[in-house]
Formats: sequence, structure tokens, C-alpha cells
Amino acid sequence: MAQSIYLSSSAYPQFSFKGDEQFLGRFVPKKTPCRLRLLSNSRVAPRAAYPVDSRAIEIPRRWYNLIADLPVKPPPPLNPKTFEPVKPEDLSPLFPDELIKQEVTDERFIDIPEEVIDVYRLWRPTPLIRAKRLEKLLDTPARIYYKYEGVSPAGSHKPNTAVPQVWYNAQQGVKNVVTETGAGQWGSSLAFACSLFGLNCEVWQVRASYDQKPYRKLMMQTWGAKVHPSPSTITEAGRRILEQDPLSPGSLGIAISEAVEVAATNADTKYCLGSVLNHVLLHQTVIGEECIKQMEAIGETPDVIIGCTGGGSNFGGLAFPFIREKLSGKINPLIRAVEPAACPSLTKGVYAYDYGDTAGLTPLMKMHTLGHDFIPDPIHAGGLRYHGMSPLISHVYELGFMETIWIAQTECFAGAIQFARSEGLIPAPEPTHAIAATIREALHCRETGESKVILMAMCGHGHFDLPAYEKYLQGDLVDLSFSEEKIKASLAKIPLLEPKLTV
Ligand SMILES: Cc1ncc(COP(=O)(O)O)c(C=O)c1O
Repeated sequence: MAQSIYLSSSAYPQFSFKGDEQFLGRFVPKKTPCRLRLLSNSRVAPRAAYPVDSRAIEIPRRWYNLIADLPVKPPPPLNPKTFEPVKPEDLSPLFPDELIKQEVTDERFIDIPEEVIDVYRLWRPTPLIRAKRLEKLLDTPARIYYKYEGVSPAGSHKPNTAVPQVWYNAQQGVKNVVTETGAGQWGSSLAFACSLFGLNCEVWQVRASYDQKPYRKLMMQTWGAKVHPSPSTITEAGRRILEQDPLSPGSLGIAISEAVEVAATNADTKYCLGSVLNHVLLHQTVIGEECIKQMEAIGETPDVIIGCTGGGSNFGGLAFPFIREKLSGKINPLIRAVEPAACPSLTKGVYAYDYGDTAGLTPLMKMHTLGHDFIPDPIHAGGLRYHGMSPLISHVYELGFMETIWIAQTECFAGAIQFARSEGLIPAPEPTHAIAATIREALHCRETGESKVILMAMCGHGHFDLPAYEKYLQGDLVDLSFSEEKIKASLAKIPLLEPKLTV
């Protein structure tokens, strides 16, 4: 099916391929540059020509490290025993040397290994698509573009980092890796990457997601991974949670504790994380680097960039290269992170040192946090149920380079239905947050008459999330808002390294 999207109309002149019009990734363009067709909505302006040569959009050769360009460097992670900045050797039980280097590097660009690029070729460059039919549906003068990462084998942006993480582990001779998964997208991505490089993979899948998404578990098993519901009885951390609450829905923080515990207590096993850390966001910048080239090729400049945030990796991956351009004064887009109402770590959390996991096994990271033992209600966007935010995104937020909002899940699913019925793609529950925020912005443009260019991170498809759609369509989906009381209680337990703020 993907083939037909990228077929060339010049090769098949009898057909008119929509790909020529909309898919700005790997499509083969018409010989003569053409202009975007005007929609029936006369307020939508035509834009610049398509790229003359699609090979101009190549997979980026380097990941981008935003830290190199920040006016103030982010605070370092701390060793939880000494409260001193972590040393590389503190991290080596968990990560291979190359990833530790990437975690702490100040270098602006890191070369992507050829073997990783070779795997990226399975789905990259990903398409940048103009949502013309959504624009029309909303009757907005805004021009909406989305960068679609759902074309990867696992169905999201997560393989962008799973592949290099597994590759660097394989280079160091590591045979076993463990991880957590919230939405199931990260676990399947790591399972996929391990199957390519011959590593064993074990995944702790958050209980709520394990129950809601049996096919994600089967995907992981198909790629050869072992999957456990979290909390599990296998680990000390899991057993402790189950003692307190045998029916615990789990959380990313708990699942991380379980996987980290296993890696820390088995010398032959390393840990992989699907979000939050610097090296993960670094790998994801392949999205933004590619998107910059695609937007340049069509003569567009984003006015607003929108992405959903769980631990921050798809958002950072798209936004960071654009923030570089913003810092250099070339462009000045508004950059907006969208969180779930049930787990608004950036919007409602405090900026303080806290653990990355529930049991307190990880280094202390300065980040926006709702408290490491905060267990969000089991919303359908399982990948956004994380108590903290990437320290780098938290820092960028503190520096004032971006803004944040939260949206409740019924509005998100309403937006997803509009998106599916106009653009065709059924989004994963996580990017429905970005879609809902994009729709808000586009409707605002309808009020003001502004023809802003909105760029949205559409980070994954929802083909294994249909039970959530069923709930919504049957009218059974309810909004689960954060509880101020619950947040206060968990904030009271974060380490006392500095004066705490109150929510
Ligand atoms: C499709 C999808 N989008 C978004 C997220 C949230 O993670 P992040 O904020 O790191 O992109 C997840 C996490 O599992 C996911 O699976």
C-alpha cells in the first residue's frame, strides 16, 4: 500500500497520484514544478513549488544536539546516593559507553552510523503531509502540515531511537536488553530493533496498557521479545507496589523501576529507555532535521509547532532543530507542547530534582515532575502517563523557548475522529493531543483570519488502539483530570534538594 503513495505520476501517466500533491517525503515529483492546488476555500493561499528533485530530501546524516546551542546549560543529573553530578561510570551498569557519551556530550552534531541509516531507509524519510482536507473541514485559512512517523515498522517515531540504542549495545557485545513500555509502541520498537541485531529483549508493559492492547504484546512476541505486565512479581519494585495495591494499573515510573532493577542486578543485561534522556531526544532529531529540509523545499515556514509530550521525545525530535533555527534568528515559531489533563507534568508539576522511576533507582534529574510515585489515572494515551518531563525539555521550557497546554481525552478523541475522517489516518491516542491542539489553533485562525502555518507531530498510528476508539464512539470515554490532592501527596515525597514549590 505504501508503494502506491510514492509511485511517480510521470512513470504512470494514466493515473493521477495523490502522492504528488501531498506526500513530501519520498514521492517522485512531476517533472515540472507545480503549485499546491487551491482548495475550494478561497482563503487558503497557494504555496511555493514542490521540490524539483525528491533526492534533495535525503535521510539526515547527523543527529542534532540542542544543548550545544543553549545559552545556559541544563543542570546535571545527580547520583542519588552522593547527590554529586553523575559520572559516566555510574551509568555504565545500565547503558553502553557510546550512549553514555551521547548523554553528556556538548557536541552540536553526532554522525548517524551507516548501519543505522541503512535500517532507517526502511521507513525514512517519513512524509510531511499537508492536511488540506482537515483545513477544509475546519474552514480555516491556516495551512496545516503534519510529519507522519506512523510509517515505521512499529507504527511510531520510537524506532528512530530503538535502532541506534540496540546497535550501540550490539557493538559493545551486549546480548540482553530490558525496558518498559507504556503505549506498547516503545516495547514493540525495541523488540523490532533487537530482532534485527540479534539481541534478547524483555519488556515490562504497564498493566493498563497490557490489558488494553493485547496486540501490542503479540507484536513484541512476534519480534521475539518476552513481555511481562507491570507491576510484576518478578522484581522487588513490582512486588512492593502489588503489596500496596494488588490491582495497580501500573505506570511508566513503575515499569522503569522494574526494568532498571533487572539491568542493575544482571551484569549481562543493559537497559534501554524510550524517552526522557538526552540521547533519546538526540536520536529523534532526525525527524526535525528532515522536516526542515522538507519545509524549505516547499517554501513554507512554520508559525506554530505542536507536539504531544509524554517524556518528550517525539516533541523534542521535531522541535529541537527548529529551536536551533529560532535561536539563530532565522525563524520565530511558537512551540507548543500538549499534555494529557490526567498527567500534566510540565503544566502542573514542579521544576525540581526527582527520580525518573517510582522506586527511586535512577539518577536524580532536574525536571518538571508530579512526583515519582504519582500514578496517573489509566487514560488511553498510555505513552503520556509519565510523572516527569525530559530534563532537556524542562530546561528549554524554563528558558522560555516553548509553551505548554493540557487537553482532556474526550476533546482529543473528537479531534482524532475529525482527523481520521478527513485525512484518513487513525492516530495513536498520544498524538490525538497534538491534533486537538492543532484544531484549536486552526479554529482560532478562522476567527482571526490569519493564515498561519501549523506544523504538527503526528507521531504514530492507532491501529492497535481501536478499543479506545470503540469506547469513544459508544460514548463511554470519560475525562480523567489530575487531582490536586494526589499531586500534592506525591510531591511531598520528592527528595528535598531545594525549596519545593506548591501546586
Ligand atoms: C505514539 C506515541 N506518541 C507519543 C508517545 C509519548 O512519548 P514521547 O513524549 O517520548 O514522544 C508515545 C510513548 O509511548 C507513543 O507511543
